[in-house]
Amino acid sequence: MEKEVKDLRIETRAVHAGDRKKPNPSIPVTTPIYTASSYIYERMETLDRVFGREEPGDSYARYDNPTNRGLEELLTSLESGASSLACSSGMMAIQFALTTALLDRRKHVVAASALYGATVRLLESVFEPLGVETTFVDICDLAAVEAAIERDKPGCVLLETISNPLLRVPDLDRIASLTKKAGAALVVDNTFATPLMVRPLEHGANLVVHSLTKYLAGHGDVLGGAIIADAEHTELLRSLSRTAGPSLGPFESYLTMRGIKTYPLRFERQCQNAFRLASWLTSRPEVDRVYFPADPRHPDASVIGTLFPRGLYGAMISVELKDAGRPEVFAFMDRLRLVVRGTSLGDVHTMMLYPAMSSHRDISPAQRRRVGIGDNLVRISVGIEAINDVIADIEQALVTAAPTATQP
Ligand SMILES: Cc1ncc(COP(=O)(O)O)c(C=O)c1O
Repeated sequence: MEKEVKDLRIETRAVHAGDRKKPNPSIPVTTPIYTASSYIYERMETLDRVFGREEPGDSYARYDNPTNRGLEELLTSLESGASSLACSSGMMAIQFALTTALLDRRKHVVAASALYGATVRLLESVFEPLGVETTFVDICDLAAVEAAIERDKPGCVLLETISNPLLRVPDLDRIASLTKKAGAALVVDNTFATPLMVRPLEHGANLVVHSLTKYLAGHGDVLGGAIIADAEHTELLRSLSRTAGPSLGPFESYLTMRGIKTYPLRFERQCQNAFRLASWLTSRPEVDRVYFPADPRHPDASVIGTLFPRGLYGAMISVELKDAGRPEVFAFMDRLRLVVRGTSLGDVHTMMLYPAMSSHRDISPAQRRRVGIGDNLVRISVGIEAINDVIADIEQALVTAAPTATQP
């Protein structure tokens, strides 16, 4: 090829020279970014077999990509799955996991009433018009879950391991067995807990989803999602994805793999920091209520005691500020100097969000009230900083925002 290219005109060489080189026998120590959209072989017969999936190999980026394959193998290992699919966002992962779960099942979802706001919207404004009904149920009320499953005979049950933003923790084992008995699939969003705390497939879930954007990538520079499947759903997930194309781009895949290398270290530190911050917030007169899974009065304390490893309670805290409405909460948040006022979570930096404005903005105020999201609620995603600096920042914002303090 090289010799032939050398003799060609400059326009042709500009297109072909240097490309399609056989890799050296060396093995890169980390997975490179493969941007090629298609792949060739010495012989057409090989490509034919790869297309037909009779032989491993790459043919077209929507079907498979070596960078994504590295990330998918990593995620499969972390979540004790049979296979994984890297998706373009967490929402794409949820949408595609539901599509896979429901394809051969009854088009009805029993979903936790406390879910990320966009997930509620997805069910109501995408799936419902397409003929998939949803029953929302208090997922921590096992009798209500059992009754909904018996009555509605869903094809799928959907929940979050730790709910957003009130941090409720459903009984995964019991719900998995109710779901299985009904012949339905259990889809679990494990974004908040992460596999260091809970691996839902080990508890009987069928499909686990992640927003990779959060703890796993962890640095605020990736939008991505993933589905980790059990053996039963592996083939269907992969074949549907070849047609529907929910894939993650290779750059994001690379960044996520890089991020995951330090995720256990980051996450343990974030959990320790969150424990310290939650204890401090509990002692503050400006605070009405702190939601944190380590609280012994947490309504799901007995599930937490068996589901979570000792000492890890996650790194999310929700807080109700005393005598505060939207203007007071905004004033408090405007005073933060270090804590980032942003709409994400799981990053190395501590972030604070106002759920009524962002994560739960587009669900109705009535539904917000029903799931306990008041106008005085803020959600904190705790980072890896020195926690005393974070505490000092929140303290100065609380004190200066208190009604007795002088406002500038
Ligand atoms: C629990 C949970 N699941 C899914 C998502 C959606 O993820 P993404 O923004 O990557 O689409 C989010 C986003 O905040 C989330 O908090």
